[in-house]
Amino acid sequence: MPPRHSPGVLRLATSLFATLTAAQHDYSQYVNPFIGSEGPFEGLAFGGGDIFVGGALPFGVAKVGIDTYEDNVTYSVINGGYTPNGHVTGISMMHESGTGGAPKYGLVPQMPLTTVDEPVNILDNRTYWQDRVGNDTTRVGYYATQLENGVGVELSASRHAGIMQYQFPAGEKHVLVDASHYLPSEGGGNAVQAYVGGSIQLEPNGKTYTGHTSVGGGWNEGAPITVFFCGEFEEAPDQAKTFSGRLTDPIQRYHTWSNGPVPEPQFSQNGSSEVSGPLNDRVGALFTWSNSSAATVKSRVGISFISSEKACAFKNDEIPSWNLNDTVTKAVEEWNRDVFSKIQVPTGDAQNRTNLVLLYSSLYFMHLMPSDRTGENPLWQSGEPSWDDFYTLWDIFRCTVSLYHLIQPSYYQGMVRSLIDIWRWEGFMPDGRSGNYNGLVQGGSNADNVLADAYVKGLPGINWTAAYQAMLKDAEVQPYNTFSFTDFTASVKEGRGALYDWVPLGYVSSDRSTRPISRTVEYALNDFALAQVARGEAPDDVEKYMNRSANWQNIWSHNITHKNFTGFLAPRLSNGMFNLTDYNPALCGDCEWSSISYEGVPFEYSFTIPHDMETLIDFMGGPDEFERRLDYIHMPNTSEQNLGANGAAISTIMNIGNEPDFATPYEYNYINKQYKSVEHARALANQYFHDANYGVPGNSDAGALNSWLIWQMLGLYPVVTQPVYLIQSPWFEDINMTINGNATLRIMANGLDNQESYYVQSVKVNGENWDKNWLEHTDIMVNGGTIEFELGSEMTRWENGDVPPSPGHVEKQQIS
Ligand SMILES: *[C@@H]1O[C@H](CO)[C@@H](O)[C@H](O)[C@H]1NC(C)=O
Ligand SMILES: *[C@@H]1O[C@H](CO)[C@@H](O)[C@H](O)[C@H]1NC(C)=O
Ligand SMILES: *[C@@H]1O[C@H](CO)[C@@H](O)[C@H](O)[C@H]1NC(C)=O
Ligand SMILES: *[C@@H]1O[C@H](CO)[C@@H](O)[C@H](O)[C@H]1NC(C)=O
Ligand SMILES: *[C@@H]1O[C@H](CO)[C@@H](O)[C@H](O)[C@H]1NC(C)=O
Ligand SMILES: *[C@@H]1O[C@H](CO)[C@@H](O)[C@H](O)[C@H]1NC(C)=O
Ligand SMILES: *[C@@H]1O[C@H](CO)[C@@H](O)[C@H](O)[C@H]1NC(C)=O
Ligand SMILES: *[C@@H]1O[C@H](CO)[C@@H](O)[C@H](O)[C@H]1NC(C)=O
Ligand SMILES: *[C@@H]1O[C@H](CO)[C@@H](O)[C@H](O)[C@H]1NC(C)=O
Ligand SMILES: *[C@@H]1O[C@H](CO)[C@@H](O)[C@H](O)[C@H]1NC(C)=O
Ligand SMILES: *[C@@H]1O[C@H](CO)[C@@H](O)[C@H](O)[C@H]1NC(C)=O
Ligand SMILES: *[C@@H]1O[C@H](CO)[C@@H](O)[C@H](O)[C@H]1NC(C)=O
Repeated sequence: MPPRHSPGVLRLATSLFATLTAAQHDYSQYVNPFIGSEGPFEGLAFGGGDIFVGGALPFGVAKVGIDTYEDNVTYSVINGGYTPNGHVTGISMMHESGTGGAPKYGLVPQMPLTTVDEPVNILDNRTYWQDRVGNDTTRVGYYATQLENGVGVELSASRHAGIMQYQFPAGEKHVLVDASHYLPSEGGGNAVQAYVGGSIQLEPNGKTYTGHTSVGGGWNEGAPITVFFCGEFEEAPDQAKTFSGRLTDPIQRYHTWSNGPVPEPQFSQNGSSEVSGPLNDRVGALFTWSNSSAATVKSRVGISFISSEKACAFKNDEIPSWNLNDTVTKAVEEWNRDVFSKIQVPTGDAQNRTNLVLLYSSLYFMHLMPSDRTGENPLWQSGEPSWDDFYTLWDIFRCTVSLYHLIQPSYYQGMVRSLIDIWRWEGFMPDGRSGNYNGLVQGGSNADNVLADAYVKGLPGINWTAAYQAMLKDAEVQPYNTFSFTDFTASVKEGRGALYDWVPLGYVSSDRSTRPISRTVEYALNDFALAQVARGEAPDDVEKYMNRSANWQNIWSHNITHKNFTGFLAPRLSNGMFNLTDYNPALCGDCEWSSISYEGVPFEYSFTIPHDMETLIDFMGGPDEFERRLDYIHMPNTSEQNLGANGAAISTIMNIGNEPDFATPYEYNYINKQYKSVEHARALANQYFHDANYGVPGNSDAGALNSWLIWQMLGLYPVVTQPVYLIQSPWFEDINMTINGNATLRIMANGLDNQESYYVQSVKVNGENWDKNWLEHTDIMVNGGTIEFELGSEMTRWENGDVPPSPGHVEKQQIS
């Protein structure tokens, strides 16, 4: 029977509420950790959020959950490990959340089995994988499922460790630990993960095992990462044996038993230790409890990137109790204290529960990644914080990091310092980074945008001299071409692969480079980011980078007309000529690595100039034409490009499932027609975000989509690289946000009715009437403050002050 998924009925609720004081409201009860677990086809993750489901802490290293395998490769996506109906191949300690492309992680597993007799071969998961029966249960810090072999699985997680509890039926009880396990890329290809060695030892106490696994590859094409582990069972098994078997995975540049048959395990002669050796043998251990033992097997597992000793210490320190509920309770407390309570809204009976679920679930998903690996950097010692799983900045630079800045200032400071430290020790900041390895770069070097955004808002504790040096490296040094199969033309590991075009030509050309249109607009914003930081750190550079930030104008073709709109970004050759042969700005080929634009068509990218909206509006023919064009992209059936699974059946050019368009519905603010921003952005939120398994329009992208929804519900939207927020309309009548450490921003909405009364009639900021549809960071985000909305059902042009700024405004000599 295919399991269905509902947020767990609160089995724990009574005990949790008892331990919470009134001041610590249990916001975790509103979190539905399944939002994004399915796509448009019920029972399939395909086209959904690719989310992780399991036990985790905010930005935790351990994300403990099931790994699955789906038979139908066409429709399989197992990036977060979890799929609604896939066969369970293990319960592992490390996962990503929300990522597309080939999977990464699924490392350090256990698998409870009730038999290991033929046809089971413990080196072949197809012989022992398990379907699930009944419904999975999950809530913050807790996951439970029932395997078809009768084993009930419950789990929870701390920061670097997990606790698993297996309820066995009568009969045999085994736990398999296959150190060579990882999430496969079911379709194969260049970006598969590859196991390249491991070890396992049984400790003399009979209960504990330690070891390591090294696995490379995955979407970001990373070097092997070594994860040390330390597992312990509450009760010593009656028998424990280590085993090894030959590696048959086809891997470039590593030794394997090519085209060998499925290997048979060789059990160790002395039974206590295996090392994979020069042929990268698979290694593992099998633990067995005899029939007479208790039916419950409990286990705690710690992980570390430094040593198995540290993994053991994490296990012991973070999970001192064998009562799984103690770890759940601690997780819930931490999520409430450090995450959910940062945004407090009324929770009484009169409230619409769906909106509470959307708010607190979105907060949950935007805190699963990146991972805080401070103290766990195996590559260098610097004393700086260490973060990983920026997957990717391309996704989260637009509005996720600016929310971290407000509600997680100390975590965020750690992230930014870590980005700079990566530059110091490895030469480039990442755009994507996972498994302690930079990659992949989809567009520009967007760490530049993150740094500039933090700089203009005064994030403390950053060495801005170093930050600017790191940004200069991106702007001036062509990264080595590592000849990725993803794109042979230039590096996609880090930096800006098309600098060879950008610097001499002033644009990314369509004949020498891939993704010329999307990379041109992204590089332009990156250079604006340099200009922003240069204002304080290197004033002599400001003019240079301001000029470069206007380079998007170099690929604006003023005389192409499409659907009665004139002027678009267009492909330009290295000889200076536009190539308008068969050019349609509403098409991108397949919007992939070698297309003219990435994950969006040029029509969409033609709206992504946040630093100089003034010129953009001018190029589009003035405010009226700009408005007409914005209206058009929100109209159904305007999309001409089939985006496949990425499209979430969206038929408008405006695609809220994809990050480049995040700011677009808010751009009516730039012509002082804020009510139209509210109209369209609310409609998008209502249409595509739901308290349901198919509740986000496509991959959640490390919480990027979720953070877009939070801003929408707050009634604000940040303009990246500027200390500016566009005013929208909030979804709650009263919001208290804890910002900048311990300041309070209070957002109040009189006259709100989310069904019919949500258009702004007037706004007061800190008690004063406000005639602009935007705010500056210092107005309310430093010391806190209040925003009071008067809402109504009438679309009103309430604002008559200055439009939001265009600090990157540059008038270039126009080309045609
Ligand atoms: C956790 O607590 C709940 C209720 O308090 C109980 O039903 C459940 O069995 C407990 N689980 C474990 C693993 O102790
Ligand atoms: C995969 O699923 C699709 C849709 O249900 C179906 O058309 C196709 O035949 C399946 N392929 C395999 C190999 O089962
Ligand atoms: C699973 O959940 C569905 C809907 O949420 C419900 O109808 C069904 O009864 C549940 N099944 C079991 C076995 O609990
Ligand atoms: C499980 O088995 C499949 C099929 O042989 C294989 O591709 C995969 O790598 C194995 N491991 C996992 C974790 O799925
Ligand atoms: C088992 O063998 C490994 C290497 O083969 C060795 O390091 C270890 O000391 C041995 N253990 C025992 C208990 O003999
Ligand atoms: C926000 O804070 C104010 C002042 O402390 C308080 O009166 C109000 O009830 C709070 N609102 C919410 C939703 O917590
Ligand atoms: C609650 O909000 C959701 C979406 O925001 C909406 O669909 C639903 O109709 C609302 N329910 C009530 C009772 O207002
Ligand atoms: C800041 O970074 C610069 C440039 O890398 C370095 O020279 C300086 O020592 C750093 N300052 C501090 C306080 O670490
Ligand atoms: C111009 O674009 C067309 C259509 O995409 C393409 O076939 C052609 O190769 C391009 N010309 C050059 C010189 O790149
Ligand atoms: C655009 O203008 C340029 C120069 O003014 C001209 O060469 C080109 O043919 C025009 N393209 C179109 C599509 O009209
Ligand atoms: C084309 O756009 C102009 C405004 O630029 C408008 O006046 C005209 O009606 C439009 N034509 C069509 C066919 O939509
Ligand atoms: C909280 O505020 C007090 C005084 O306003 C200040 O001294 C303290 O540093 C602040 N704490 C944090 C975490 O920002």
